[in-house]
Amino acid sequence: MNNALIHKTSLFFKETFHAEPEIIVLSPGRINIIGEHIDYNDGFVLPAAIDKIICFAFRKNESNASRIIAIDLEDELELDLQSPILLSDKVWTNYIRGVLLQLKKGGFEFQGFDCVFSSNIPVGSGLSSSAALECGLLFGINELFKLNIKPVDIALMGQKAEHWVGINCGIMDQFSSVMGLENKVLKIDCKTLEYEYHNADFNDYSLVLFDSNVKHSLFTSEYNTRRDECEEGLTILKNNFPQINSFRDCTENQVLSVKDKMTTNVFKRSHFVIKEINRVQLACEALDKGNIDVLGELMFETHGGLSTDYEVSCAELDMIVATLKKEEAVIGSRLMGGGFGGCTINLIKKGQEEMIKNKLSALYLDTFGIELRIYDVKIGNGTSLYKPN
Ligand code: GLA
Repeated sequence: MNNALIHKTSLFFKETFHAEPEIIVLSPGRINIIGEHIDYNDGFVLPAAIDKIICFAFRKNESNASRIIAIDLEDELELDLQSPILLSDKVWTNYIRGVLLQLKKGGFEFQGFDCVFSSNIPVGSGLSSSAALECGLLFGINELFKLNIKPVDIALMGQKAEHWVGINCGIMDQFSSVMGLENKVLKIDCKTLEYEYHNADFNDYSLVLFDSNVKHSLFTSEYNTRRDECEEGLTILKNNFPQINSFRDCTENQVLSVKDKMTTNVFKRSHFVIKEINRVQLACEALDKGNIDVLGELMFETHGGLSTDYEVSCAELDMIVATLKKEEAVIGSRLMGGGFGGCTINLIKKGQEEMIKNKLSALYLDTFGIELRIYDVKIGNGTSLYKPN
């Protein structure tokens, strides 16, 4: 699948610029096994890079202007690197502008380059195509101009670019896109940015994504509101327990004890955060021990919390999870990523995948009049240079 994408991207480059690309960069999307909305609350998360990628072809062009072509959008951006970098109405270009701005702010010296890119990461499905775009571009410019930026800093700069575009996101997406490893999940401590790899071995179960094929427009504003609510919750906790610095220092009882001092929403968000941080620890242990039933139960619990306490689900995602919960062949299911649409991540007994896919697709179409999209993902490597054999 990715070979065709790589071939198409480099051919397009050659035909447009009448030269071979100097480098080809592959930058993946991500899944997250568990640990949602806690990367920006100093929690742990358990994501992995996937085999759906953006492919970039690059070449220095010995000028101050850069030309970046989005093959799939049939659109291009030309930028003079000396001019001020401003937000534009064309959203896709803002991720590029955001990355270049971060490089300029960091004092990195680089010149003009030509770039084309094409993707097989579905956009708006919660698979972090924007993180793949930011990190792939940073990685490519870093390689082209030998800037010596460390991988973790590529992730942090990608995150800053995303903030500039307007989503006050945590570090999970960029970190997993850069640091992912084939067949491993990453356990990231979002407080210290320490990380470990754990085997992505789900025994008799397959990872399948069901894409609700909806993306509710509330996403950006609600996401940023959740961050503010969590900050408010943490401030109340700190005021009452001076030893608390972050949600990581905090127990469920402490949150319960200040319930009356919080608004209903602030309490619900804070309560979810504490429980989700704990669930990731339990889920990682369960994965290591091969207790996939325990992992699956924790995934269902996370969905419940995201739906009722964190309130980032929607009718379509709730229907998918509720339907799958009744199926013996499904051991775990939950909405994945920021919410308000996009995918659920599901663990389905091997051999039963087709039956579940067919049943759910028919019911989903019948209920919402929307086609369910289905992705069988594999866990792949983080952002890397493509080296033809
Ligand atoms: C989006 C953000 C991430 C993370 C998830 C929710 O994907 O970009 O930083 O907060 O939502 O877990």
